[in-house]
Amino acid sequence: MSLKDITLHRGLQGVYFDRSSTTFIDGKQGILEYRGYNINDLAEHSTFEETAYLLIHGKLPTQAGLDEFDSELKSARELPEQLFDVIDLVKDSHPMDVLRTAVSALASFDPDRFDNSADATIRKGVRLTSQVPSIVMAHHNIRAGRNPIKPSETLNHAGNFLHMMDGKEPSQQAINLMDTDFVLHADHGSNASAFTARVVAGTAADLHSAVTAGIAALSGPSHGGAAENVMQMAREIGKPENAAGYVKNLLSTRRRVMGFGHRVYKAEDPRAGHLRQGVKNLSKEMGQPEWYEILEATIAAMKPYARRGIHVNVDFFAGVIYYLNGIPQDLFVPIFAVGRIPGWTIQVLEQFEHNILIRPLLHYTGGRELDYVPIAERG
Ligand code: CMC
Repeated sequence: MSLKDITLHRGLQGVYFDRSSTTFIDGKQGILEYRGYNINDLAEHSTFEETAYLLIHGKLPTQAGLDEFDSELKSARELPEQLFDVIDLVKDSHPMDVLRTAVSALASFDPDRFDNSADATIRKGVRLTSQVPSIVMAHHNIRAGRNPIKPSETLNHAGNFLHMMDGKEPSQQAINLMDTDFVLHADHGSNASAFTARVVAGTAADLHSAVTAGIAALSGPSHGGAAENVMQMAREIGKPENAAGYVKNLLSTRRRVMGFGHRVYKAEDPRAGHLRQGVKNLSKEMGQPEWYEILEATIAAMKPYARRGIHVNVDFFAGVIYYLNGIPQDLFVPIFAVGRIPGWTIQVLEQFEHNILIRPLLHYTGGRELDYVPIAERG
């Protein structure tokens, strides 16, 4: 078949491959809704627990429903003892590699491991939502030669995550910012990692396999890796007055400014603004206002690119918030994964509902009908 008979959609850009009732995105206007609820309302009024319930169960919970869901989450925070050995074995790798390995291993300990029904997948998704933060922080401590910190039985999801880093009680402001960050990252339609998870689910493989693959896809700098790279960039810029020159240098060598641009949003990413104020307040409070100023100076330097639809994305402000909370830079992408478990779970559930093998075509451009030459005769 020649190229004139087909339409190539590299990167599947602009291709609809199924229907979905999970997340609505209008990239031109910068609108994001989970199950019909605007991300601005959820970021301001909801919590990660409530948002996770909304995504997984498709509607906002009653107080009793939320309390029950919250205790399900809290009771799933402990990891099987053997998992600490798995983490220890690979502790010198990047935390995303450790997370991928640990989630894959966790499948063996899950009570529903041989059950691929929707109910079992929901139970597994809820457990994973709680276990992934425990894995990230257990690795953080194990690699430093410390014992993992026991999860809290009382703190909320965000508070427990921060608590497991060093055993201290996090400030309410730090908890609130992390909670908002998790809400903003909870789902994002057919992004690269969710699509990857759906491809795996399309073969009728289980949730742990799909999430393991999702974590692998998220680890790349074009997807989840950006928050880590933005912090690196902010360090390299060093002072607000250096931002314009730094950006100019990147763009003149056709490199990318991290935390800018998005495959779908051609207006500002509606998630970004919610973290902007957080960076401003936190950096001022911590006596390090230069971080906020560096980010603002970078946005100003990128202004000409806004006309081409290149705006800040959710990861632009996230990295500095994590940094100011004392979180090591290589945990920034795992934090994205911590927030994204409900999203991967619902994408897999939705895929299972009307499952179909996802198997697109490649337009072949290599040689054809070549003569097989025996190895001794090859030049
Ligand atoms: N800095 C400079 N130029 C950019 C950027 C950027 N961050 N993003 C896109 N462009 C330019 C790009 O060079 C290209 O220009 P030209 O047409 O002259 O070649 C044009 O915009 C279109 O870029 P593209 O690569 O075709 O667009 P895409 O939809 O494939 O890329 C992206 C989306 C997120 C991979 C890209 O914007 C990027 O690499 N951004 C930096 C990394 C980043 O912040 N990633 C986090 C994404 S949001 C969180 C998530 O969902 O994972």
